[in-house]
Amino acid sequence: PTPEATPVPPPFGFSSQVTTGNLSSYKFPSDFVWGIASAAYQVEGAAKDEGRGPSIWDLLSHRVPGYVADHNTGDITDLDYYLYPQDILRLKAFNVSYYSFSISWSRIFPFGRGYVNEQGLAHYDDVIQRLVEAGIKPIITLFHWDTPLALMNDYNGWVSEEIQADFLAYAQLIISRYDKYVPIWVTVNEPQVFCGDEYPGFPSGYWPQYGVTGLRAQYYCGHNVLLSHAAVVDWYRNDFKGTGRITFKNSANNYIANTTSTADAEAVARGNDFQLGWFSSPVWQTGDYPASLRDTLGDLLPHFTAAQSAMILGSCDFFAIDGYTTDVIAAVPEGVAACASNSSNPNYPTCITQSQITASGWDVGFAADLGASWLKSDPTGLRTFLNYLQKTYTGPKGKDIVLSEFGFAEPGENNYTTLQDALYDQLRVDYFAGYLNNLLAAKVEDNVNVTGAIAWGIFDNFEWSSGLSTRFGLQYVNYTTLERYPKASMFTFTDFFKQHGL
Ligand code: NOJ
Repeated sequence: PTPEATPVPPPFGFSSQVTTGNLSSYKFPSDFVWGIASAAYQVEGAAKDEGRGPSIWDLLSHRVPGYVADHNTGDITDLDYYLYPQDILRLKAFNVSYYSFSISWSRIFPFGRGYVNEQGLAHYDDVIQRLVEAGIKPIITLFHWDTPLALMNDYNGWVSEEIQADFLAYAQLIISRYDKYVPIWVTVNEPQVFCGDEYPGFPSGYWPQYGVTGLRAQYYCGHNVLLSHAAVVDWYRNDFKGTGRITFKNSANNYIANTTSTADAEAVARGNDFQLGWFSSPVWQTGDYPASLRDTLGDLLPHFTAAQSAMILGSCDFFAIDGYTTDVIAAVPEGVAACASNSSNPNYPTCITQSQITASGWDVGFAADLGASWLKSDPTGLRTFLNYLQKTYTGPKGKDIVLSEFGFAEPGENNYTTLQDALYDQLRVDYFAGYLNNLLAAKVEDNVNVTGAIAWGIFDNFEWSSGLSTRFGLQYVNYTTLERYPKASMFTFTDFFKQHGL
């Protein structure tokens, strides 16, 4: 029984219509990585249970006024910490092949290091065992933004080089325990975002005793991420001799120029350097940051030793990209001090103009001038982007690319009048159909070596500073009863792979 309207049966007619034209008979290789994603703090709840220590997100959501727009926290969210047995069975019912999720560092090490919480390990033992029994392959992310609060208080988290040893110890414990069940490891999720100013791991002024704030903190955080990632990979390959594949996940969108001007074209190039190049130039190209970052940032950007560069270069087994949309980039006009999204540094190189199309403010289309008419939006941006990534980073015969997250947010519950509205999520259906078709076109027609596609997210969840009111789920969640209902997009997404042989 539910206090909401009775769910309607799933809509019919999406499956055979997802792909048309000569791609419709394409069959994916059987090892294509397709699945659905979540992250610990966003779905688990049970924030104070079974020995979990607090993370920075407990503090941000509870104690920093206005940090989370709707004043929600991750205390309960989807309560997946207890409901995971049924959540796994739902994935199985949809024949989902991979489940990408993260482990909560502070459940394992409540103080970030030292004492190990056996109850936390027992929990993930059972999650993994049930996934394996259900025939679902785990992709495990070690760090998805929930820095143990103790490490913030001890040394300001990722801004300090001290984190490298603590992250390595945590990674070694988890990987040693689970490697035989885990084909894919992700060290760190989207450092561009959590080190950047969007979801700072170190809100300016909050830990002032360390004196490292703003852009300097951002680039020290990135530096420690790269060194931490590379140290784990080095251990995994050379000492532990793990059998899986290991990488970190980039966050970047397809950038297109606002106009045909040279200034806007240069802004796109700088934007790509500052977003993708920041982490992927060291790993995939040179062992160091792009020259444009060095030129712009000067001594805000730390240096690698030769040995560190050598360890970082080549430290990803494949290129993982979380790419949700296309952004329109314009050069900062002469005399304009700052762009809204980068207001801390007047010299910051790009200005991002976005139209407000999805609830998250992301443009799924090609150009800002599409305005609010999302219907005209064109997800061919993904195809362009995958071609760009192969050309720039992996090379035509090189390692492969996995679209490790993509998804679509829509307005929250207040904007729905009925449950049916939420479940017939036509906007998201169109988004997934469009993106998947363009991924297929990039793979089959452009020969881009794309080997996976992971949808965000398993169900509606705690969307960081947007709280519970921005819903990205392929399943709807009633936050009063915690019931889950598949949305039409869940059928679109899973039917696509069925149609194409998986
Ligand atoms: C990427 C992040 O990894 C995830 O945590 C977030 O919820 C989605 N993007 C949507 O914003």
